[in-house]
Amino acid sequence: MRRISALLLVNIGQLLTLRSMPDGPRRGASLSELGIIHDAAVLCLGGRIVSVGSTKDALRDPWLKKNRKKVTEIDCGGRVVLPGFVDSHTHPVFSQPRLVDFEKRIAGANYEEIAEAGGGIRSSIDGVRKASKTALTQKVSAVLADLAGHGTTTVEAKSGYGLSLESELKSLEAIRAAAREWPGTVVPTFLGAHVVPPEYRGRSQEYVDLICNEMMPTVAKRKLAQFVDVFCDRGAFSAEETARIFSAAEQHGLAVRAHLGQLSETRLGPLLCYRPASLDHMDHVNDADLPALAQSDSIATFVPGANYFLGLTRYPNARRFIESGVAVALATDYNPGSSPTLNMSMAMSLACTQMRMSPAETIAAATINGAWALRLADRKGSVEPGKDADLAVFNVSDYREIPYWFGANHCILTIMNGVPSGPRFL
Ligand code: NIG
Ligand code: FE
Repeated sequence: MRRISALLLVNIGQLLTLRSMPDGPRRGASLSELGIIHDAAVLCLGGRIVSVGSTKDALRDPWLKKNRKKVTEIDCGGRVVLPGFVDSHTHPVFSQPRLVDFEKRIAGANYEEIAEAGGGIRSSIDGVRKASKTALTQKVSAVLADLAGHGTTTVEAKSGYGLSLESELKSLEAIRAAAREWPGTVVPTFLGAHVVPPEYRGRSQEYVDLICNEMMPTVAKRKLAQFVDVFCDRGAFSAEETARIFSAAEQHGLAVRAHLGQLSETRLGPLLCYRPASLDHMDHVNDADLPALAQSDSIATFVPGANYFLGLTRYPNARRFIESGVAVALATDYNPGSSPTLNMSMAMSLACTQMRMSPAETIAAATINGAWALRLADRKGSVEPGKDADLAVFNVSDYREIPYWFGANHCILTIMNGVPSGPRFL
Protein backbone atom coordinates (compact mmCIF):
# COMPACT_ATOMS: atom_id res chain seq x y z
CA MET A 1 0.00 0.00 0.00
CA ARG A 2 1.66 3.21 -1.07
CA ARG A 3 0.28 6.53 0.09
CA ILE A 4 1.69 9.33 -1.99
CA SER A 5 1.94 12.16 0.48
CA ALA A 6 1.16 14.91 -2.05
CA LEU A 7 -1.06 14.19 -5.02
CA LEU A 8 -2.35 16.71 -7.52
CA LEU A 9 -5.04 15.86 -10.06
CA VAL A 10 -5.23 18.42 -12.87
CA ASN A 11 -7.16 18.88 -16.12
CA ILE A 12 -10.30 17.30 -14.78
CA GLY A 13 -13.01 17.88 -17.40
CA GLN A 14 -15.86 17.62 -14.88
CA LEU A 15 -15.16 17.42 -11.18
CA LEU A 16 -18.33 16.36 -9.34
CA THR A 17 -17.68 17.81 -5.88
CA LEU A 18 -21.07 17.00 -4.28
CA ARG A 19 -20.09 19.78 -1.87
CA SER A 20 -22.03 19.99 1.34
CA MET A 21 -25.50 21.28 1.62
CA PRO A 22 -26.32 22.84 4.96
CA ASP A 23 -28.89 20.35 6.17
CA GLY A 24 -27.81 16.71 6.12
CA PRO A 25 -28.36 14.16 3.37
CA ARG A 26 -29.60 15.15 -0.07
CA ARG A 27 -33.38 15.22 -0.44
CA GLY A 28 -35.66 16.34 -3.26
CA ALA A 29 -34.15 18.85 -5.69
CA SER A 30 -30.80 18.94 -3.87
CA LEU A 31 -30.15 15.35 -5.01
CA SER A 32 -29.46 16.74 -8.48
CA GLU A 33 -26.93 19.36 -7.41
CA LEU A 34 -23.54 17.87 -8.08
CA GLY A 35 -21.42 21.00 -7.56
CA ILE A 36 -19.59 20.53 -10.86
CA ILE A 37 -16.32 22.38 -11.51
CA HIS A 38 -15.00 22.32 -15.08
CA ASP A 39 -11.27 22.17 -15.85
CA ALA A 40 -10.68 21.43 -12.21
CA ALA A 41 -7.84 20.36 -9.93
CA VAL A 42 -7.72 18.61 -6.56
CA LEU A 43 -4.76 18.63 -4.18
CA CYS A 44 -4.46 15.85 -1.60
CA LEU A 45 -1.94 15.80 1.25
CA GLY A 46 -1.44 12.97 3.74
CA GLY A 47 -4.59 11.17 2.68
CA ARG A 48 -6.84 14.23 2.89
CA ILE A 49 -8.18 16.66 0.33
CA VAL A 50 -6.70 20.09 0.96
CA SER A 51 -7.84 22.17 -1.97
CA VAL A 52 -10.36 22.00 -4.78
CA GLY A 53 -10.63 24.54 -7.59
CA SER A 54 -9.68 25.30 -11.17
CA THR A 55 -6.52 23.88 -12.73
CA LYS A 56 -5.42 27.43 -13.49
CA ASP A 57 -5.67 28.51 -9.85
CA ALA A 58 -4.00 25.36 -8.60
CA LEU A 59 -0.99 25.86 -10.83
CA ARG A 60 -0.67 29.48 -9.61
CA ASP A 61 -0.75 28.47 -5.95
CA PRO A 62 2.48 29.65 -4.24
CA TRP A 63 2.81 26.52 -2.04
CA LEU A 64 2.44 24.28 -5.08
CA LYS A 65 4.92 26.32 -7.13
CA LYS A 66 7.50 25.90 -4.38
CA ASN A 67 6.84 22.21 -3.75
CA ARG A 68 6.08 21.05 -7.29
CA LYS A 69 8.86 18.42 -7.23
CA LYS A 70 7.42 16.75 -4.14
CA VAL A 71 3.98 16.49 -5.66
CA THR A 72 2.86 13.57 -7.82
CA GLU A 73 0.79 15.05 -10.62
CA ILE A 74 -1.92 13.17 -12.48
CA ASP A 75 -3.17 14.70 -15.70
CA CYS A 76 -6.80 13.60 -15.98
CA GLY A 77 -6.96 14.63 -19.64
CA GLY A 78 -10.44 16.16 -19.49
CA ARG A 79 -12.03 13.09 -17.88
CA VAL A 80 -14.65 12.96 -15.12
CA VAL A 81 -13.59 12.75 -11.46
CA LEU A 82 -16.02 12.15 -8.62
CA PRO A 83 -15.92 11.14 -4.96
CA GLY A 84 -15.27 7.39 -4.74
CA PHE A 85 -18.53 5.48 -4.58
CA VAL A 86 -19.82 4.59 -1.13
CA ASP A 87 -21.40 1.15 -1.46
CA SER A 88 -23.42 0.99 1.73
CA HIS A 89 -24.78 -2.58 1.39
CA THR A 90 -22.75 -5.71 0.52
CA HIS A 91 -22.50 -9.34 1.65
CA PRO A 92 -18.94 -10.31 0.61
CA VAL A 93 -18.33 -13.23 3.02
CA PHE A 94 -19.43 -16.33 1.15
CA SER A 95 -17.54 -19.07 -0.58
CA GLN A 96 -19.43 -20.17 -3.69
CA PRO A 97 -21.73 -18.65 -6.29
CA ARG A 98 -25.26 -20.15 -6.27
CA LEU A 99 -25.46 -21.38 -9.82
CA VAL A 100 -28.16 -23.98 -9.26
CA ASP A 101 -30.46 -21.32 -7.78
CA PHE A 102 -29.68 -19.19 -10.83
CA GLU A 103 -30.81 -21.93 -13.19
CA LYS A 104 -33.87 -22.77 -11.09
CA ARG A 105 -34.99 -19.17 -11.20
CA ILE A 106 -34.53 -19.02 -14.95
CA ALA A 107 -36.73 -22.12 -15.12
CA GLY A 108 -39.44 -20.29 -13.20
CA ALA A 109 -38.90 -20.74 -9.43
CA ASN A 110 -39.04 -17.62 -7.27
CA TYR A 111 -36.75 -16.48 -4.42
CA GLU A 112 -38.94 -17.97 -1.69
CA GLU A 113 -39.56 -21.27 -3.51
CA ILE A 114 -35.81 -21.69 -3.97
CA ALA A 115 -35.24 -20.99 -0.27
CA GLU A 116 -37.96 -23.49 0.73
CA ALA A 117 -36.28 -26.16 -1.41
CA GLY A 118 -33.01 -25.76 0.53
CA GLY A 119 -31.40 -23.20 -1.76
CA GLY A 120 -31.11 -19.49 -1.01
CA ILE A 121 -29.30 -18.02 1.98
CA ARG A 122 -29.29 -21.35 3.85
CA SER A 123 -27.32 -23.02 1.06
CA SER A 124 -24.46 -20.55 1.54
CA ILE A 125 -24.22 -21.36 5.25
CA ASP A 126 -22.50 -24.69 4.76
CA GLY A 127 -19.76 -23.18 2.66
CA VAL A 128 -18.97 -20.47 5.20
CA ARG A 129 -19.09 -22.83 8.18
CA LYS A 130 -16.61 -25.18 6.48
CA ALA A 131 -14.28 -22.47 5.18
CA SER A 132 -11.16 -21.40 7.05
CA LYS A 133 -10.80 -17.80 8.15
CA THR A 134 -7.88 -17.48 5.74
CA ALA A 135 -9.98 -18.65 2.81
CA LEU A 136 -12.76 -16.19 3.70
CA THR A 137 -10.23 -13.39 4.13
CA GLN A 138 -8.84 -14.09 0.68
CA LYS A 139 -12.35 -14.02 -0.77
CA VAL A 140 -13.13 -10.67 0.88
CA SER A 141 -9.77 -9.25 -0.22
CA ALA A 142 -10.51 -10.19 -3.82
CA VAL A 143 -13.87 -8.43 -3.57
CA LEU A 144 -12.28 -5.30 -2.12
CA ALA A 145 -9.73 -5.17 -4.95
CA ASP A 146 -12.52 -5.56 -7.48
CA LEU A 147 -14.60 -2.84 -5.81
CA ALA A 148 -11.68 -0.42 -6.04
CA GLY A 149 -11.36 -1.24 -9.73
CA HIS A 150 -14.99 -0.16 -10.18
CA GLY A 151 -14.59 3.16 -8.35
CA THR A 152 -15.80 2.17 -4.88
CA THR A 153 -13.62 3.51 -2.07
CA THR A 154 -15.88 2.90 0.95
CA VAL A 155 -17.88 -0.26 1.44
CA GLU A 156 -20.14 -1.69 4.08
CA ALA A 157 -19.54 -5.43 4.53
CA LYS A 158 -21.95 -7.75 6.31
CA SER A 159 -21.51 -11.14 7.90
CA GLY A 160 -24.64 -13.28 7.67
CA TYR A 161 -23.81 -16.63 6.07
CA GLY A 162 -22.27 -18.18 9.20
CA LEU A 163 -25.27 -17.92 11.52
CA SER A 164 -23.55 -19.59 14.48
CA LEU A 165 -21.49 -17.79 17.09
CA GLU A 166 -18.27 -19.25 15.74
CA SER A 167 -18.96 -18.69 12.05
CA GLU A 168 -20.35 -15.18 12.45
CA LEU A 169 -17.22 -14.21 14.40
CA LYS A 170 -15.07 -15.90 11.75
CA SER A 171 -16.87 -13.92 9.02
CA LEU A 172 -16.40 -10.60 10.84
CA GLU A 173 -12.76 -11.43 11.53
CA ALA A 174 -12.27 -12.15 7.82
CA ILE A 175 -13.75 -8.73 7.02
CA ARG A 176 -11.42 -7.11 9.55
CA ALA A 177 -8.33 -8.94 8.25
CA ALA A 178 -9.11 -8.07 4.61
CA ALA A 179 -9.91 -4.46 5.51
CA ARG A 180 -6.48 -4.02 7.13
CA GLU A 181 -4.78 -4.75 3.81
CA TRP A 182 -7.03 -2.53 1.69
CA PRO A 183 -6.40 1.19 1.37
CA GLY A 184 -10.12 1.98 1.18
CA THR A 185 -12.57 2.11 4.07
CA VAL A 186 -14.63 -0.87 5.23
CA VAL A 187 -17.60 -0.59 7.58
CA PRO A 188 -18.38 -4.00 9.13
CA THR A 189 -21.96 -5.02 9.93
CA PHE A 190 -23.14 -7.97 12.02
CA LEU A 191 -26.00 -9.73 10.20
CA GLY A 192 -26.53 -12.72 12.48
CA ALA A 193 -30.24 -12.12 11.84
CA HIS A 194 -30.13 -12.99 8.15
CA VAL A 195 -32.35 -16.09 8.38
CA VAL A 196 -33.02 -18.66 11.08
CA PRO A 197 -30.39 -21.38 10.48
CA PRO A 198 -31.61 -24.96 9.87
CA GLU A 199 -30.75 -26.23 13.38
CA TYR A 200 -33.12 -23.60 14.87
CA ARG A 201 -35.96 -24.26 12.44
CA GLY A 202 -39.28 -23.62 14.21
CA ARG A 203 -37.40 -22.10 17.19
CA SER A 204 -36.76 -18.61 15.93
CA GLN A 205 -37.16 -17.07 19.41
CA GLU A 206 -34.28 -19.19 20.67
CA TYR A 207 -32.15 -18.10 17.75
CA VAL A 208 -33.00 -14.46 18.50
CA ASP A 209 -31.93 -15.15 22.11
CA LEU A 210 -28.61 -16.49 20.83
CA ILE A 211 -28.13 -13.36 18.70
CA CYS A 212 -28.97 -10.97 21.54
CA ASN A 213 -27.38 -12.79 24.46
CA GLU A 214 -24.28 -14.39 22.96
CA MET A 215 -23.38 -13.23 19.49
CA MET A 216 -23.99 -9.52 19.90
CA PRO A 217 -22.17 -9.07 23.24
CA THR A 218 -19.09 -10.80 21.76
CA VAL A 219 -19.24 -8.80 18.55
CA ALA A 220 -19.55 -5.56 20.54
CA LYS A 221 -16.83 -6.46 23.03
CA ARG A 222 -14.38 -7.33 20.26
CA LYS A 223 -15.43 -4.26 18.24
CA LEU A 224 -16.03 -6.45 15.20
CA ALA A 225 -18.94 -4.44 13.82
CA GLN A 226 -20.27 -0.90 13.69
CA PHE A 227 -23.81 -1.86 12.74
CA VAL A 228 -26.32 -4.59 13.46
CA ASP A 229 -28.55 -5.52 10.51
CA VAL A 230 -31.72 -7.63 10.40
CA PHE A 231 -33.47 -9.17 7.41
CA CYS A 232 -36.97 -8.15 8.46
CA ASP A 233 -39.31 -9.86 6.01
CA ARG A 234 -41.54 -12.81 5.34
CA GLY A 235 -39.51 -15.99 5.82
CA ALA A 236 -36.83 -14.21 7.84
CA PHE A 237 -37.50 -12.12 11.00
CA SER A 238 -40.71 -10.39 12.11
CA ALA A 239 -40.95 -6.71 13.02
CA GLU A 240 -41.22 -7.72 16.70
CA GLU A 241 -38.07 -9.83 16.50
CA THR A 242 -36.34 -7.01 14.66
CA ALA A 243 -37.31 -4.55 17.40
CA ARG A 244 -35.90 -6.94 20.01
CA ILE A 245 -32.61 -7.22 18.16
CA PHE A 246 -32.46 -3.43 17.64
CA SER A 247 -33.06 -2.88 21.32
CA ALA A 248 -30.21 -5.28 22.23
CA ALA A 249 -27.97 -3.45 19.75
CA GLU A 250 -28.82 -0.17 21.45
CA GLN A 251 -27.76 -1.64 24.78
CA HIS A 252 -24.43 -2.66 23.28
CA GLY A 253 -23.81 0.72 21.70
CA LEU A 254 -24.19 -0.56 18.14
CA ALA A 255 -26.09 1.37 15.47
CA VAL A 256 -28.74 -0.44 13.42
CA ARG A 257 -29.95 -0.89 9.86
CA ALA A 258 -32.37 -3.34 8.24
CA HIS A 259 -33.31 -5.16 5.08
CA LEU A 260 -36.95 -4.18 4.78
CA GLY A 261 -39.81 -4.53 2.33
CA GLN A 262 -38.02 -6.80 -0.16
CA LEU A 263 -40.74 -9.46 -0.21
CA SER A 264 -43.55 -8.08 1.94
CA GLU A 265 -44.66 -4.84 3.55
CA THR A 266 -43.64 -3.95 7.12
CA ARG A 267 -44.87 -0.73 8.72
CA LEU A 268 -41.96 1.59 9.50
CA GLY A 269 -43.19 3.41 12.63
CA PRO A 270 -42.12 0.91 15.30
CA LEU A 271 -38.67 0.52 13.75
CA LEU A 272 -37.96 4.20 13.11
CA CYS A 273 -37.86 4.72 16.91
CA TYR A 274 -34.52 2.90 16.87
CA ARG A 275 -33.16 5.46 14.42
CA PRO A 276 -31.83 2.99 11.85
CA ALA A 277 -29.07 4.51 9.74
CA SER A 278 -30.66 2.95 6.69
CA LEU A 279 -33.61 0.82 5.56
CA ASP A 280 -32.71 -1.16 2.46
CA HIS A 281 -34.59 -2.65 -0.52
CA MET A 282 -37.93 -0.86 0.16
CA ASP A 283 -39.84 -2.50 -2.70
CA HIS A 284 -42.96 -2.85 -0.56
CA VAL A 285 -43.53 0.24 1.55
CA ASN A 286 -46.80 1.75 2.67
CA ASP A 287 -47.11 5.27 1.21
CA ALA A 288 -48.52 6.47 4.52
CA ASP A 289 -45.09 5.82 6.10
CA LEU A 290 -43.16 8.09 3.73
CA PRO A 291 -43.71 11.37 5.65
CA ALA A 292 -42.31 9.83 8.86
CA LEU A 293 -39.38 8.40 6.93
CA ALA A 294 -38.75 11.81 5.34
CA GLN A 295 -38.77 13.43 8.80
CA SER A 296 -36.26 10.90 10.15
CA ASP A 297 -32.48 10.64 9.72
CA SER A 298 -32.84 7.20 8.14
CA ILE A 299 -31.80 6.76 4.54
CA ALA A 300 -33.83 4.58 2.15
CA THR A 301 -31.29 2.52 0.25
CA PHE A 302 -32.37 1.02 -3.05
CA VAL A 303 -30.59 -2.05 -4.40
CA PRO A 304 -31.94 -2.44 -7.94
CA GLY A 305 -29.32 -5.09 -8.77
CA ALA A 306 -31.38 -7.50 -6.64
CA ASN A 307 -34.61 -6.69 -8.51
CA TYR A 308 -32.81 -7.13 -11.80
CA PHE A 309 -31.16 -10.42 -10.90
CA LEU A 310 -34.30 -11.90 -9.37
CA GLY A 311 -36.08 -11.05 -12.62
CA LEU A 312 -38.60 -8.78 -10.92
CA THR A 313 -40.55 -6.31 -12.98
CA ARG A 314 -41.38 -4.28 -9.88
CA TYR A 315 -38.80 -1.79 -8.58
CA PRO A 316 -39.22 0.68 -5.71
CA ASN A 317 -41.05 3.81 -6.71
CA ALA A 318 -38.04 6.11 -6.33
CA ARG A 319 -39.90 9.18 -7.60
CA ARG A 320 -42.46 8.88 -4.84
CA PHE A 321 -39.72 8.59 -2.20
CA ILE A 322 -37.81 11.56 -3.61
CA GLU A 323 -40.91 13.72 -3.97
CA SER A 324 -41.85 12.91 -0.36
CA GLY A 325 -38.48 14.25 0.82
CA VAL A 326 -36.97 10.88 1.75
CA ALA A 327 -33.16 10.79 1.53
CA VAL A 328 -32.32 7.94 -0.86
CA ALA A 329 -29.08 6.06 -1.51
CA LEU A 330 -28.05 3.36 -3.96
CA ALA A 331 -25.99 0.26 -3.23
CA THR A 332 -25.08 -2.97 -5.04
CA ASP A 333 -26.24 -5.50 -2.38
CA TYR A 334 -23.37 -7.65 -3.68
CA ASN A 335 -24.22 -11.24 -2.62
CA PRO A 336 -24.34 -14.73 -4.18
CA GLY A 337 -28.13 -15.10 -4.20
CA SER A 338 -29.87 -11.97 -5.30
CA SER A 339 -27.25 -9.55 -6.59
CA PRO A 340 -23.89 -10.90 -7.73
CA THR A 341 -22.53 -7.57 -8.90
CA LEU A 342 -20.23 -5.06 -7.26
CA ASN A 343 -20.55 -2.54 -10.06
CA MET A 344 -22.08 0.69 -8.71
CA SER A 345 -22.30 2.11 -12.24
CA MET A 346 -24.64 -0.77 -13.08
CA ALA A 347 -26.80 -0.10 -9.99
CA MET A 348 -26.98 3.54 -11.13
CA SER A 349 -27.96 2.53 -14.65
CA LEU A 350 -30.78 0.33 -13.31
CA ALA A 351 -31.95 3.17 -11.09
CA CYS A 352 -32.12 5.43 -14.15
CA THR A 353 -33.91 3.09 -16.51
CA GLN A 354 -36.11 1.12 -14.09
CA MET A 355 -36.74 3.66 -11.33
CA ARG A 356 -36.67 6.91 -13.29
CA MET A 357 -33.93 8.50 -11.23
CA SER A 358 -31.91 11.05 -13.20
CA PRO A 359 -28.20 10.39 -13.76
CA ALA A 360 -27.39 13.27 -11.38
CA GLU A 361 -29.65 11.83 -8.68
CA THR A 362 -27.97 8.45 -8.98
CA ILE A 363 -24.53 10.04 -8.51
CA ALA A 364 -25.61 11.74 -5.27
CA ALA A 365 -27.31 8.53 -4.11
CA ALA A 366 -24.13 6.51 -4.78
CA THR A 367 -21.76 8.93 -3.05
CA ILE A 368 -22.81 11.50 -0.45
CA ASN A 369 -26.10 9.80 0.53
CA GLY A 370 -24.31 6.44 0.76
CA ALA A 371 -21.93 8.15 3.16
CA TRP A 372 -24.90 9.35 5.22
CA ALA A 373 -26.27 5.80 5.22
CA LEU A 374 -23.02 4.71 6.90
CA ARG A 375 -22.87 7.79 9.16
CA LEU A 376 -19.61 8.77 7.50
CA ALA A 377 -20.70 11.94 5.75
CA ASP A 378 -18.19 14.01 7.74
CA ARG A 379 -15.35 12.14 5.98
CA LYS A 380 -16.73 10.57 2.81
CA GLY A 381 -18.95 11.14 -0.20
CA SER A 382 -17.83 14.55 -1.46
CA VAL A 383 -14.71 16.26 -2.77
CA GLU A 384 -14.08 19.05 -0.29
CA PRO A 385 -11.12 20.29 1.74
CA GLY A 386 -10.85 18.30 4.97
CA LYS A 387 -12.48 15.15 3.60
CA ASP A 388 -10.63 11.88 3.01
CA ALA A 389 -8.84 11.69 -0.35
CA ASP A 390 -11.25 9.20 -1.95
CA LEU A 391 -11.64 9.82 -5.66
CA ALA A 392 -12.56 7.91 -8.80
CA VAL A 393 -11.43 8.85 -12.31
CA PHE A 394 -13.73 7.71 -15.11
CA ASN A 395 -12.67 7.51 -18.72
CA VAL A 396 -15.64 9.54 -19.94
CA SER A 397 -16.08 13.22 -20.60
CA ASP A 398 -19.62 13.62 -19.23
CA TYR A 399 -20.79 12.10 -15.92
CA ARG A 400 -24.06 10.96 -17.51
CA GLU A 401 -22.04 8.39 -19.44
CA ILE A 402 -21.42 6.47 -16.20
CA PRO A 403 -24.98 5.06 -16.02
CA TYR A 404 -25.46 5.33 -19.80
CA TRP A 405 -22.86 2.71 -20.84
CA PHE A 406 -24.63 0.02 -18.85
CA GLY A 407 -22.74 -3.05 -17.72
CA ALA A 408 -19.40 -1.42 -18.52
CA ASN A 409 -16.73 -0.23 -16.15
CA HIS A 410 -15.10 3.02 -17.20
CA CYS A 411 -13.23 3.61 -13.95
CA ILE A 412 -9.51 3.88 -14.71
CA LEU A 413 -8.09 5.15 -11.44
CA THR A 414 -9.22 5.09 -7.84
CA ILE A 415 -7.66 7.00 -4.97
CA MET A 416 -8.45 5.61 -1.51
CA ASN A 417 -7.39 7.62 1.52
CA GLY A 418 -4.66 9.10 -0.68
CA VAL A 419 -3.51 5.75 -2.12
CA PRO A 420 -3.84 5.54 -5.92
CA SER A 421 -4.81 2.25 -7.50
CA GLY A 422 -5.27 1.59 -11.18
CA PRO A 423 -3.28 0.62 -14.26
CA ARG A 424 -0.88 3.52 -13.89
CA PHE A 425 -0.03 2.61 -10.30
CA LEU A 426 -0.01 -1.19 -10.38
O1 NIG B 1 -30.13 -8.40 0.35
N1 NIG B 1 -32.50 -10.20 1.49
C1 NIG B 1 -31.65 -10.70 2.17
N2 NIG B 1 -30.37 -10.78 1.89
C2 NIG B 1 -29.81 -10.66 0.60
C3 NIG B 1 -29.92 -11.91 -0.17
C4 NIG B 1 -28.92 -12.80 0.30
C5 NIG B 1 -28.90 -14.10 -0.44
O2 NIG B 1 -29.85 -14.46 -1.17
O3 NIG B 1 -27.88 -14.74 -0.23
C6 NIG B 1 -30.36 -9.47 -0.14
O4 NIG B 1 -31.00 -9.58 -1.20
FE1 FE C 1 -28.69 -7.54 1.33
